Amino acid sequence: MIEPLILAIETSCDDTAAAVVQGTTVRSNIVSSQDIHNLHGGIVPELASREHVKAIAPIVQLALAEAAVDIGDVDAIAVTYGPGLPGSLVVGTHYAKGLSLRLGKPLYPIHHIEAHMYSGHLEDPTLGFPALCLVVSGGHTSVFLLTSLTDYRILGSTRDDAAGEAFDKIAKMLGLGYPGGPYIDRLAKDGDAAAIAFPRGLHHEASYDFSFSGLKTAVRYYLQRTPDGERRSHADIAASAQQAIVDVLVHKTMRAAMDHGVRAVVIAGGVSANSLLRTAMRDRCSAAGMHFVAPRPMYSVDNAAMIGFLAAQRLAQGSAGEQTLDFGIEAHALRAR
Ligand code: KG4
Ligand code: ZN
Repeated sequence: MIEPLILAIETSCDDTAAAVVQGTTVRSNIVSSQDIHNLHGGIVPELASREHVKAIAPIVQLALAEAAVDIGDVDAIAVTYGPGLPGSLVVGTHYAKGLSLRLGKPLYPIHHIEAHMYSGHLEDPTLGFPALCLVVSGGHTSVFLLTSLTDYRILGSTRDDAAGEAFDKIAKMLGLGYPGGPYIDRLAKDGDAAAIAFPRGLHHEASYDFSFSGLKTAVRYYLQRTPDGERRSHADIAASAQQAIVDVLVHKTMRAAMDHGVRAVVIAGGVSANSLLRTAMRDRCSAAGMHFVAPRPMYSVDNAAMIGFLAAQRLAQGSAGEQTLDFGIEAHALRAR
């Protein structure tokens, strides 16, 4: 049987992305990042929407061309409906609705975080269940227990900043570029991670929740209050702060994995690119006899392949997609089941 061809679109934040997915095969995966925000040290929502408007048609064309697929051969459209920036989501969802109407093909609205959660299964379709997934990005830090391609449960979440936000804000305090995570990752390699004992938020609490605002404040106070001459190097500060973030992420995720007897652990989202987090999770999983998957960067940052993959699984399970096109966008809520 030839599996249906899905054209997927993702515009929830500052990346315009399109992909063509067929079953578990990604035939193309195109992402256009909006560099314009780097000049502002953070995402400017108004600029993000305008950039999506400019990029969406060429990016969709590129995804089709790279997959050697004619638009007329597409069997279904998939699109991120939320959560994200409302002005950004509107561009992708309306482009997708227009295509769906024009082609007379079903539309699959996909939840952005659910797509991140299953990116481990996109990377390795043999992964199986139950699996645990830590979604860590600029906007989210949550631990999910996945029991099937449709069923999952949220076990814990951040109570304040997301881990990526903590990386970005600390990088800003150190005068590094944006987004800050990759800068901290690089600088930390030359530093001493044990130089400063920064706080590990909620480390000893029984919940699987996270908190990073205390760390952020501790770094700010350290920079403001440590006398000149006593202050450690920026590399030491970066290494110590990174260690504090990674310690809690690994500790809580592994405790949740043990408590729920999972066979596999996945990390997804932009922060999953962090080299210390990857090594630490791999080591802990290997010691616990658990399979560890960190999807390759093109599947772990914001991308449309993960949106198309989830739509393909829904379609395979008999979902007919959205027939009325009256679904709305979802800006913030993380659906808890
Ligand atoms: O999933 P993502 O690409 O998109 C958004 O959530 O917007 O995640 C972006 C986040 C940023 O906060 C960035 O600093 C962080 O991922 N990030 C990293 C690394 N690479 C990206 N954080 C730590 N270490 C990295 N190597
Ligand atoms: Zn994301």
